[in-house]
Amino acid sequence: MSQKPLGLICAIPNEIQHFGSAFIKNSEQVIAGFSFYSGKLDGVETILVEAGMGKVNAAVVTTLLMEHYNCRAILFSGVAGGLDPELGVGDVIIGSKLIQHDYGMTVQEKLTTYQPGHLPIHMPTGKLGYDAEPTFIEKIMNELAEFKLPEISAEAAGGHKRQPIITSGTILTGDQFVGCTVVRDKLHNDLSGMAVEMEGAAIAQVADRYQVPFVIIRSLSDLAGEESTMDFVKFLEETAGGAALVLRRIINIL
Ligand code: ADE
Repeated sequence: MSQKPLGLICAIPNEIQHFGSAFIKNSEQVIAGFSFYSGKLDGVETILVEAGMGKVNAAVVTTLLMEHYNCRAILFSGVAGGLDPELGVGDVIIGSKLIQHDYGMTVQEKLTTYQPGHLPIHMPTGKLGYDAEPTFIEKIMNELAEFKLPEISAEAAGGHKRQPIITSGTILTGDQFVGCTVVRDKLHNDLSGMAVEMEGAAIAQVADRYQVPFVIIRSLSDLAGEESTMDFVKFLEETAGGAALVLRRIINIL
């Protein structure tokens, strides 16, 4: 029996284009206005789809990947804003935990993030976020131990060229682009997020429902502060390629 395909999601064309000729397309099917490309990425059966931005788009395409293609795992490759002051533009984070930072309860102007589908007053739970399968993450990080990405340009690195870090940790997701140091620091301090983006934890929530593994790979296009909208535009091309290269390096072990 042939193996089930992998489902690979990107949010925007700049993220998808880095797979280039490594993805050999066999066919295209349009469902709910999304184009699903069946083919092989570095020889591995993959369904590739551009979801557009945000949690709802991500949840819809993940559901369609499961219902129409019965994928064995759901992958995401793209960019994020950095939250951890130890990280810089171009560094890559593989999500070991995904949290929807904008879901929760607001009391006296303060949002307390809570688990999607629950509220402390109605359906209490001790769980926050979605954990990636720990053995999967361990296997991926072992595979990447010797892997080196191309150096980050001096402009993106803020001075001197440098080798990007590849690490794993908590990624936060919300339906907002973060361009504010106060919010950035709060997200990092309250939820221990290393990076913030707009799709990953929605994919994780749907993958959790279907009981399939997910792998969210994000390279930092900006540092989620006041300069992030400009940095995002300036460094998107350079940085989105890092996540795609990391994904291609591990696709054979998934
Ligand atoms: N994706 C890339 N940069 C981001 C940011 N600063 N906030 C949310 N999503 C992002």
